[in-house]
Amino acid sequence: MEQGLVEIRYNTMTTASTESFKVLRTNLIYSEGVQVITMTSVLPNEGKTIASFNLAKSFAQINKRVLLIDADLRKGSLKRFFTVRHKVAGLSEALSRQSGQIIEETTIPNLDIVFAGKIPPNPTELLSGEIFENIINRLRNAYDYIIIDTPPMNAAMDAAIIGRVTDGVVLVVRNDFVKKQDLKRVKLQLERNGARVIGSVLNRVKKDQVDYKNYGYEYYYEEK
Ligand SMILES: Nc1ncnc2c1ncn2[C@@H]1O[C@H](COP(=O)(O)OP(=O)(O)OP(=O)(O)O)[C@@H](O)[C@H]1O
Ligand SMILES: [Mg+2]
Repeated sequence: MEQGLVEIRYNTMTTASTESFKVLRTNLIYSEGVQVITMTSVLPNEGKTIASFNLAKSFAQINKRVLLIDADLRKGSLKRFFTVRHKVAGLSEALSRQSGQIIEETTIPNLDIVFAGKIPPNPTELLSGEIFENIINRLRNAYDYIIIDTPPMNAAMDAAIIGRVTDGVVLVVRNDFVKKQDLKRVKLQLERNGARVIGSVLNRVKKDQVDYKNYGYEYYYEEK
């Protein structure tokens, strides 16, 4: 099978969001020991997948070697941003030992990707095993940053399990969408599972609406 580059289908960065992701990127660069980052949220549709993709692109732009992993094994969300002309295996195939070749090079310099692969019957179990941890630890040598997109915490514990073997969790928070108490509960849940919450991303904020004091380091990603 001919292996081509995976092409980006469309741009997800507005001018305002480019600036915002630079701020997050800088904060992460200055965070001690943060190389592998889990992106999650409380509820579905808060903007995790787009934020993961944008953060990965932002690191790639400054010549960091970046791997973006789609660990939303229940849905496989990253594929929609790419045109893939050849057959690819994804994370679920690696976790079930059906494939060892899962990394795809993209048309964005410095950005490689791992798609989610076939939806497995037991995503949480697959991610809990030592294979996932071993894959991540092996990849640490090949990349400056590894960004992992996950399902929301209201659906399953996948993000907490992933968070445990990564260096930090960034919570994507959609503006005016999540109750503060639910956000607090999820943060606690993550921490109880051994994940370290290192920041949050406030998404869909209108310029005159931001209360920056409520979050760690955040930025807005302007609604189109
Ligand atoms: N700042 C924004 N402005 C406008 N639309 C946005 C913004 N952020 C996200 N969206 C839209 O909201 C939808 C959900 O975004 P995305 O897929 O990134 O969320 P998600 O948290 O990964 O969802 P899921 O929980 O289903 O995985 C998409 O259609 C996306 O285009
Ligand atoms: Mg998603």
